[in-house]
Amino acid sequence: MENLDEAFESLMKDASKAAEKIREKAVKGGFINLISHLDADGLAAAGILGKALARLDAYFRIRIRHWVDEKLINEIISEKPDLTIFTDLGSGYLDLISEGLSEHEIVILDHHQPVGEPSPSHLHVNPHQYGVDGSIALSGAGVAYLTAKAIDSANQDLAYVAVVGALGDMQDKYGQRSLGGLNEYIVKDAVETGFLEVIEKEIIFFGRETRPIHKALACTTSPFIPGLSGEEDKCLAFLASIGIKPKIGDKWRALRDLTEEEKTKLCSSLAEYLISKGVPKETLNLVGTVYTFVREEPWTPLRDGREFSVLLNATGRMEKPSLGIAICMGDRSLAFEEATKILEEYRRLITKHLGWLIENERIKELDHIYVVQGENDVEEKIIGTIASILSTNMQTDKPIIAYAIVPEEEIVKVSARTIDSLVKKGLDLSEIMREAAEKCEGRGGGHKIAAGAQIPIKQIENFIKIVDRLVAKQLGKQR
Ligand code: C5P
Ligand code: C5P
Ligand code: ZN
Repeated sequence: MENLDEAFESLMKDASKAAEKIREKAVKGGFINLISHLDADGLAAAGILGKALARLDAYFRIRIRHWVDEKLINEIISEKPDLTIFTDLGSGYLDLISEGLSEHEIVILDHHQPVGEPSPSHLHVNPHQYGVDGSIALSGAGVAYLTAKAIDSANQDLAYVAVVGALGDMQDKYGQRSLGGLNEYIVKDAVETGFLEVIEKEIIFFGRETRPIHKALACTTSPFIPGLSGEEDKCLAFLASIGIKPKIGDKWRALRDLTEEEKTKLCSSLAEYLISKGVPKETLNLVGTVYTFVREEPWTPLRDGREFSVLLNATGRMEKPSLGIAICMGDRSLAFEEATKILEEYRRLITKHLGWLIENERIKELDHIYVVQGENDVEEKIIGTIASILSTNMQTDKPIIAYAIVPEEEIVKVSARTIDSLVKKGLDLSEIMREAAEKCEGRGGGHKIAAGAQIPIKQIENFIKIVDRLVAKQLGKQR
């Protein structure tokens, strides 16, 4: 893969410049302001760079944000940090940053589709600049990791955290649900440090190592299994119905304790079950590549890469991002205990809101999109997760546009999600969110497959109409 190697080299050149700048400011004792995104990838990025800064004895502070706006720019201007680093955030707001912060020292380490041009005095590291698709080939945590490694090769022990970030952004889109593209370099680093073991062709369940099988099954939400996801009792009954013993003696069995035969039986029965529930064939990717952190305690959600990412995501969305960051920086005591409680709360919240949307018929089918009307009733912080779950489960050829009202900011938060096959047909949600939001006094952007926007409340109907039209246009379905 020559092109990939070339892209990697070019990216590393820019990452090294960023590393040099960070090291220089840290060594001089300057105040470093680190701003990161609130999802799993953003928290992983913040944890990696935070650890790298701590190792430099730097004077720094981490802040977590959902987006960049004038308010944040003004805060930075008034605080006058010696250096501001954006991780997993920033590329979508290059115009705002280059205009508002042209006099400031800025490093942007991101993988979102760039919007606008960076200021020549700012350092911008983003895979898209080297022709690499940042939505699947490298995460924000990946860019942060490569920069941290350029700061000091000892930071290679943080590679596994970048694997968590990539899984959190659902970048396991290569063969057998594996990470590919530039993420491969990071996976290799993580394996080399002895933290990560990659197991191919395994059943992907939440807690394959850590939980009794019925619990693992109940915790699995990708794919979401109607009637089983979230329902431990029903999972026990399901196992009994296919002749798999959940216990030997008085000891629960985890997925890893099953024989090959039992695993095959479980897979085929689940596939049959899903089809009987009308779940489309494409979602049946139950077997894939598993990323195990072998130095983590068994029976904890940190042992499995995907589970780790869900834990991080939960802390971010539930307004406790510092717990997630602390875990990425190595905390395995208090922060970890708190975070596991938050995870349970987060799960309950998602189940509750999903149920509410379905019961109240708030999922509306338009000509070219589905609209999920969260209105004032679904919290803005989980609307993205709701959109992701609905999109994975419905596998429809209409993108999902979900929104929630944020009354205190007088805006609507929109989350748009679609599936690979539509992106292959030319759908680019990042472009659609950007264009529609601009027409509605708002801002939008993201990735082709997953994007978002913030717009004034009064514009929501207009916005939806424009999005519906733009989707039709991109997919060549205009009348
Ligand atoms: O800002 P960031 O890139 O970290 O967030 C991307 C969001 O889009 C995540 O919530 C992730 O779950 C979602 N996503 C997705 N499918 C992809 C890439 C991202 O659903 N292929
Ligand atoms: O907020 P949500 O998870 O729906 O965002 C999906 C993706 O779109 C994320 O990667 C997010 O950073 C990005 N986004 C953006 N600009 C916005 C809103 C979201 O780049 N105005
Ligand atoms: Zn990201």
